[in-house]
Amino acid sequence: MSGLILRVHVPCLFCCIRHSYVTIFDVKIKDSNSKLVDPYYQTQYGAAYLGDSLELLKYVPEKSISLILTSPPFALTRKKEYGNKSAEEYIEWFLGFAKEFKRILKDDGSFVLDLGGAYLPGYPVRAIYQFELLVRLCKELGFFLAQDFYHYNPSRLPTPAEWVNIRRVRVKDSVNVVWWLSVTENPKANNRNVLKPYSDSMKNLLENGYKAKMRPSGHDISTKFQKDNTGSIPPNLLTLANTESNSAYMRRCAEAGIKPHPARFPLDFPKFFIEFLTDKNDIVLDPFAGSNTTGQAAELLMRKWLAFELDSTYLQGSVYRFQEVNDLFAVRESYGATQQIRPARKNSKRNK
Ligand SMILES: C[S@@+](CC[C@H](N)C(=O)[O-])C[C@H]1O[C@@H](n2cnc3c(N)ncnc32)[C@H](O)[C@@H]1O
Repeated sequence: MSGLILRVHVPCLFCCIRHSYVTIFDVKIKDSNSKLVDPYYQTQYGAAYLGDSLELLKYVPEKSISLILTSPPFALTRKKEYGNKSAEEYIEWFLGFAKEFKRILKDDGSFVLDLGGAYLPGYPVRAIYQFELLVRLCKELGFFLAQDFYHYNPSRLPTPAEWVNIRRVRVKDSVNVVWWLSVTENPKANNRNVLKPYSDSMKNLLENGYKAKMRPSGHDISTKFQKDNTGSIPPNLLTLANTESNSAYMRRCAEAGIKPHPARFPLDFPKFFIEFLTDKNDIVLDPFAGSNTTGQAAELLMRKWLAFELDSTYLQGSVYRFQEVNDLFAVRESYGATQQIRPARKNSKRNK
């Protein structure tokens, strides 16, 4: 689909007023040269930009974003096709972006950072860059660690083969750390928005009652546990496999001969944090957007979104996440959302 990126204009989402300022959502930017005037594509709720996010971030006004949710390139031993920094260079490289994140986040905003682990080159020992980075984000930039999460992907392949399959001295690495950072000690959050369905035993307890007693651990399980809160509070371990093989994104990338992004979020990953940490119409930003799974989740949940991505092929493919209104209807229905998305208008074509 070379050069066929759709631009979908929605009045007032982005507009340029006689070279004096630009309005992004409801935020005015005093810079007629803002790179944010010219998105790669737009949808009803958001816009995706092609470029280096270090550059693009400069045009985002301070205290305008409610949630930065991202998975940057990791400090991997074996480089991915989109390039990765080594563990040593990684932290300095990343802090440049993080300073901008701190500037643009609202006081009740959150920064959710998904990071994969890495082995040191040639040795079966792990890099500790995720932990070093966490310490520096908190101690130098003043972020707070609101909570640490762990993203378990049960379908992760066993790598590196040398340590796991051949020498058999390590087990499969299938958990990413996810640092939920905040600007203040009390970021916006509501776990009622992310309740999980009750287990059968809890349903049974709610139906048939529970005899209040002291647990062996010393915890007093009172009758308060019998209250039906419509679901159980989720743990900080998110078990999410990437089972996207038959999604519209995958099918349309295949039809167009575009290689799908090799390190996509499962859609439920951004969905969880967006529902947990934002309200409708808050702005969500993914500065390393890849195939823009974050934008898709935000669109479905009716949050405004911005996506920055360096590689045009990934952005080309990401258009398929938004192009078919019918698909969005289908996914939204499966989320139980009721409000309908307006059909996209095909306004113009854009060359790569
Ligand atoms: C791990 S991937 C993100 C995948 C994404 N979460 C998804 O669901 O598709 C990281 C992305 O960051 C992009 N990237 C790397 N450096 C960048 C930069 N300076 N500005 C914008 N994007 C960048 C890479 O091209 C890559 O697509």
